[in-house]
Amino acid sequence: MEYLLYIVIAAIFGTVIFLAMRSVNEGMKARSELKRDGTLDKNREDQYKFESVTPHEDEIETETSIENDERTDSRSTNIMDEVDDYLIVVDKYKNIQHLNRSAEKNFGKNLKGKHIATLMRVPELLQNIDSVLQVKKTLTMDLELNEPSFQFFKIYIIPGPSVFVKIPESAIIFLKDLSDIVKAQRFKSDFVANVSHELKTPLVSIKGFLETINDQAKDDIEAQKKFIPIMLDQAERMENLINDLLSLSRIELQEHIQPQDKVNLKEVLENVVDIHQRKLKEFNFKNNINEDIFIKGDHEKLIEVFSNIIDNSIKYSEKEKNIEVNLQRDLGKIIGKSYTVSVKDKGIGIPSDKIERVTERFFRADAKKSKKVGGTGLGLAIVKHIIKQHRGDLEIKSVPQNGTETKVHFPIF
Ligand SMILES: Nc1ncnc2c1ncn2[C@@H]1O[C@H](COP(=O)(O)OP(=O)(O)O)[C@@H](O)[C@H]1O
Ligand SMILES: [Mg+2]
Repeated sequence: MEYLLYIVIAAIFGTVIFLAMRSVNEGMKARSELKRDGTLDKNREDQYKFESVTPHEDEIETETSIENDERTDSRSTNIMDEVDDYLIVVDKYKNIQHLNRSAEKNFGKNLKGKHIATLMRVPELLQNIDSVLQVKKTLTMDLELNEPSFQFFKIYIIPGPSVFVKIPESAIIFLKDLSDIVKAQRFKSDFVANVSHELKTPLVSIKGFLETINDQAKDDIEAQKKFIPIMLDQAERMENLINDLLSLSRIELQEHIQPQDKVNLKEVLENVVDIHQRKLKEFNFKNNINEDIFIKGDHEKLIEVFSNIIDNSIKYSEKEKNIEVNLQRDLGKIIGKSYTVSVKDKGIGIPSDKIERVTERFFRADAKKSKKVGGTGLGLAIVKHIIKQHRGDLEIKSVPQNGTETKVHFPIF
């Protein structure tokens, strides 16, 4: 009887131990599953590692961490594919091991395995990569390339490996493309230099004449009579320049906003002809637009456009020559229907290699002539911006000594 009792107690004890062990095992399994999900917190993870475990579960842990690393890796690489900046990874031999999408787009595909010098043969860059590989400290440098086109980079050379790059003894070359910003900065400083120069010339001349009048020619009425009209002329040149600059900066600010008024081009051209009436009388001028044509635009700005174009025909043609304004339909370069206003003269013309530059600020095909007739070199730059704002197009055809045809295409209202 006693014997039987021992057996029952042992059986109960055994069952309890079995159940307890099973629950511990279940717990472990659950933890291991949690870990595989990646949701187990760090403390519990350590605890778990310390407590046990079977070789099988160890394997899983390793596999899981590799998987996670790879996931981080590919995700990081994908992130780098989303940016416009370039990322190139080189190994210790400076051979390219990875390029992000924009780098591939800019420098070309099939570069993996090739030496970085095949991509950028810049001694300073190669030296810097060497130092980063040796010293394992990030270096930065600026790089300006002018072939095939202008590019300016801020370069960070970062020693690998990193979260992103698992290659041992590597260098991550991160190229930040600052081309647009640098171009804009240089454009701005060139522009300021040009403006200063353009203003300084007439100012120096006015100052010189004033000094003469104030000094040697103090009592020389004849000399004063000669100098004053020149000074007035120079002052007018400065005034024209300032007016054109103000006009240009105003239009630049509004370039993205298309004017929405319904404008009659016939009326615009009639206004322009009125403004230049006195000078146009000296030419064989004909305005052949005698029907209403409506476009979406800004009346005053369109007056500025045709005023500048007709002013050029006047300035760059000899008196008595033909100047003609015509309308063409559907012949424009713009897809869809359009109106084209053409201003044609028989003037000095523009050399073919200079035509595409005449809309640049301060560019003059014939600088001497332009200055003599009071040009600022800004007229066609203003015209180009206003036409762009009107979603139109400008076309210039010219034959030296035979005349120029300036065409403005507008989309139909
Ligand atoms: N109708 C034209 N005939 C000859 N040359 C022209 C004509 N229109 C423009 N140009 C040339 O283009 C240059 C730029 O024109 P524009 O921007 O109006 O400046 P400008 O103030 O010198 O007239 C002029 O300096 C001139 O050399
Ligand atoms: Mg002009």
